[in-house]
Amino acid sequence: MTALHQILLDRLNSGEPLTFAEVMTQALYHQEHGYYGPGPRRIGRSGDFYTSVSVGTLYGRLLATLAQQTFEKLGQPSGFYVVEQAAHDGQLAEDVLSSCDFDYVIVEPNPRYEAVQKVKLAAFGHRVSWVSRLADLPARPALFLCNELPDAMPVHLVRWDGSIWQELWVKADDHGRLQFDPGPVSTDELSAEVARLPLDLPVGYTTEIGLASLNWLRELALAPFHGEIFIADYGLDHEELYSTERHTGTIRRYRDHKTDDHVLEDLGACDLTTHVNFTRLMEVGEAAGLKQQLYSHQGRYLGKLGLPWLATLEGRPPDTATQALLRQYHSLTHPAFMGRSFRVLLMAKEKTP
Ligand SMILES: C[S@@+](CC[C@H](N)C(=O)[O-])C[C@H]1O[C@@H](n2cnc3c(N)ncnc32)[C@H](O)[C@@H]1O
Repeated sequence: MTALHQILLDRLNSGEPLTFAEVMTQALYHQEHGYYGPGPRRIGRSGDFYTSVSVGTLYGRLLATLAQQTFEKLGQPSGFYVVEQAAHDGQLAEDVLSSCDFDYVIVEPNPRYEAVQKVKLAAFGHRVSWVSRLADLPARPALFLCNELPDAMPVHLVRWDGSIWQELWVKADDHGRLQFDPGPVSTDELSAEVARLPLDLPVGYTTEIGLASLNWLRELALAPFHGEIFIADYGLDHEELYSTERHTGTIRRYRDHKTDDHVLEDLGACDLTTHVNFTRLMEVGEAAGLKQQLYSHQGRYLGKLGLPWLATLEGRPPDTATQALLRQYHSLTHPAFMGRSFRVLLMAKEKTP
């Protein structure tokens, strides 16, 4: 039993009811025993999963191209900067900073992560600064970046019983094992989201509601910067998400590059994650005043962003470094790798009144 499991068990034994969203919050962000709490874990071959950042430096180079395009689209304004949230160990920041001259601000609520990022990015001196909240960002034009942020936010689980949606709460059996327990939906806010779900689904159909990611986007829409927002993550749109093949939802745990749906086991030692519901994210973004610019498979989008770079390679045999970048390009864009399951959402953000 993990330390976090014991902590949750103690809470249950004291009579406190726990939603899965609360269990997931603790499993990921408990300061001492959560998967992400104590500090940035390794991502990539020696970690539990890959991200586009861990594929190599090309992703950051391509996003530096996006930063240049955004800068030009906004009329080359003075004070333009790049902002990243979910900067983890600072790898994407290093890759973007190495390929452009813009200043960089990291939104980092966890001081342990900030300390790691400060060491990694020391060579960039005053070009990098930190804020702990979106509300503290400089009120200047910017490109906001995040890679795999909303998929790491807690979700509530709900199950269709044939006539109503029930929330899956977490309870302990007589041996202290955690299990799901259907009950009433916990809050009015969740009920409002549940009311949007389709009803023509088989009995037992289970899905996630990412209230935290929707509220994060609302908060982002109110942040003081204006410019563009780039969100990259694995996700689905409405039709894909609520297809009958997905009757157990998309919640998964990851460890050592293996994945399964035993999401109440080894809590704190595994990553827990869901596919992002991009349809709902876009609806909430639009309602909060953001203007959707593009929603695309990552492969299609990065393929286009990479065209000027690919053109510079024409007519000469690639050296070893270029061959490595071409392999990264393939991983990021090929539909069988990250090109199709990962999606890119770009939204314009006007000045907040
Ligand atoms: C799946 S990892 C992605 C890390 C990195 N962006 C990448 O793509 O390699 C999710 C990251 O989101 C971070 N995170 C979650 N909620 C956050 C928040 N509210 N503000 C900043 N970072 C957050 C976690 O600490 C973790 O580093």
